[in-house]
Amino acid sequence: MKPLQLNPTFNVDDFLKQNWQKKPVLLPKLVQNFSDAISAEELAGLACEEFIESRLISDFEQGGWLLKNGPFEESDFTSLPESNWTLLVQAVDQWVEAVADIKTLFDFLPSWRIDDIMISFAAQGGGVGPHYDYYDVFLLQGCGERNWQVGERCASTATQRPNTELNLLQEFKPKMEFTLSAGDALYIPPRFSHWGTATSDSLCYSIGFRAPSLAEMIEGFSDLIIKEQDPVNRYEDSYAAGRLRSGEIKAQLLDTSFQQISEKLADKKKFIVWFGCHVSQPKYPELIQGLDQPLSSTEFKALLCEGVNLVKNPSSRFAFLESSDDAGVLLFVDGAMVAFPVDQLSAITSLCEQSHFSEDSSLSLFTDPGMMGLLRQLINQGSLLASG
Ligand code: SIN
Ligand code: CO
Repeated sequence: MKPLQLNPTFNVDDFLKQNWQKKPVLLPKLVQNFSDAISAEELAGLACEEFIESRLISDFEQGGWLLKNGPFEESDFTSLPESNWTLLVQAVDQWVEAVADIKTLFDFLPSWRIDDIMISFAAQGGGVGPHYDYYDVFLLQGCGERNWQVGERCASTATQRPNTELNLLQEFKPKMEFTLSAGDALYIPPRFSHWGTATSDSLCYSIGFRAPSLAEMIEGFSDLIIKEQDPVNRYEDSYAAGRLRSGEIKAQLLDTSFQQISEKLADKKKFIVWFGCHVSQPKYPELIQGLDQPLSSTEFKALLCEGVNLVKNPSSRFAFLESSDDAGVLLFVDGAMVAFPVDQLSAITSLCEQSHFSEDSSLSLFTDPGMMGLLRQLINQGSLLASG
């Protein structure tokens, strides 16, 4: 199969300046000669697996939206009518290599922002109704055709339709309309209302990007700070302010505590480490299993001498941060951080960029003793896998 490539007419810089996070845009033939990475039948097969998230959404009576969650039985599909339903399968990139490869097309954006690739098969007339999502999404069209209507950015208070388990908008005013065929993509920033309807049986790949909410960041970062606190440090009264009335809380007496809390939360270095660990958390941690028998350095070298290549676990997330102070380069893998001296920057960058490593293609990683130690640690913890 030919390697996937972005259409050379797609201007990444223009897209990032004008559209990313801001404005929906149709990207015609973003992938030229695109052929599906999975068939509708294979997708239905995945939807029958217990460990894979899937949904079936139907609109058999106009406006009577129904949701059924997987796993499904084969009979669930054979009993469906010919039109007006959609099967959606989450995180197909975890299970099908050709689908995971689609993510490489979006390497002009940080890989840790990608959440997953959800694939929908919609029978003619099928769709999931008017809604908005909290994340950026590229809707890449596979076989068949789908018509997309896109409205404005919604407030999070926008009224939802009653009497349905689906989060559908009560009011939807389309401003743009496009019909996508194989290789076309539609980019939709967070909270822009949209509604896709299959004009023929069709597959659509949703490359979704995650971004932690402010609430999630406050909760996660403060949890870390809480764990580090010594219980001897407490609120203290200073009665120098004079006697208090029974039941009285005095604002000035809270100054010290408020200042202490503010200082703890204002620790940018700590926040950076927390953030890197948080965004590199895998979506499905149970799919990253360490080796039962961790490899010693001699065993690891012997494995490489046998010509074994290393590949990233498709569930693992790698990210790095080039620190502006003396902290060097921080590497984050699957929710943990390791610091390296700044002269390791290019090795760490290739570790984050590539998905396959061999002595031929990634020599710098294999010749540096520090990197060899890291590779061994990553294989022992399951973030890298040995492949023949
Ligand atoms: C679909 O694939 O039909 C739904 C994708 C979306 O609207 O986000
Ligand atoms: Co959507």
